[in-house]
Amino acid sequence: MVNYIEASSAPPKNTGAIRLYDAQAFEGMRRACQLTARCLDALADIVRPGLLTDEIDRFVLDFGMDHGAFPATLNYRGYTKSTCTSINHVVCHGIPNDKPLREGDIVNIDVTFVLDGWHGDSSRMYPVGTIKRAAERLLEVTYESLMRGISAVRPGARTGAIGEAIQTYAEAERCSVVRDFCGHGVGRLFHDSPNILHYGRANEGPELREGMIFTIEPMINLGRPHVKVLADGWTAVTRDRSLSAQYEHTVGVTAEGCEIFTLSPGGLDRPGLPPLAR
Ligand code: MF3
Ligand code: CO
Ligand code: CO
Repeated sequence: MVNYIEASSAPPKNTGAIRLYDAQAFEGMRRACQLTARCLDALADIVRPGLLTDEIDRFVLDFGMDHGAFPATLNYRGYTKSTCTSINHVVCHGIPNDKPLREGDIVNIDVTFVLDGWHGDSSRMYPVGTIKRAAERLLEVTYESLMRGISAVRPGARTGAIGEAIQTYAEAERCSVVRDFCGHGVGRLFHDSPNILHYGRANEGPELREGMIFTIEPMINLGRPHVKVLADGWTAVTRDRSLSAQYEHTVGVTAEGCEIFTLSPGGLDRPGLPPLAR
């Protein structure tokens, strides 16, 4: 049984009910999400071989603080960094450290800023120098997977329509969809109901309604879908060590479809070359 609740009168914890947000909330989310998008834009200028992932973390913390925002991941469930940096076969939740990025790496940087209580959650892939064609193709497939998932969002559809759109496309491209992590409701809370699976069938899951806000964040692998979490308790890697990529947007359901809150002001939230026709 799915339960929907007006967000302004909902308790400040995840009860399993799906919050429906009003126009004022959408405005708050726009601001938080645009700050996150601007930070991800700025990172495009500094990612290069030799940069330490700890330097990325410091940049994100400073960017947030300079703009009145706090990174949601800092001290979240024992996580002690301001961002996640997931390189090559790392699927997600890579912990920034003192190791340098290397030419040919692909790195996902995932930022969530909390601004005036609203959470703006987004991630993108960054090529480090020149990358191999196989890596480039994975970025294109993963970005297109996210955008096809977003295209399925409209009132009356079910969350499963998002998963079906992503899985059908990614698997037709001979890639696999990670099952162990999902998108999530977001807004006043960082991780809220409902779960947004990146696989499945269109007739599954709760119905989408105007006012819902959630992330879509498919993790797509070149090899098999299976992952394991390293001894640090966070870092998820592909079991077969194949390359993995992820793009994430925060979206709000509107009467017509959806609004992408975390769109890049600089048009930088997609793989670089060749330009995708869309
Ligand atoms: N930003 C991630 C997401 O998209 C969550 C990271 S939680 C952390 O949901 F603790 F690993 F940082
Ligand atoms: Co997220
Ligand atoms: Co995220």
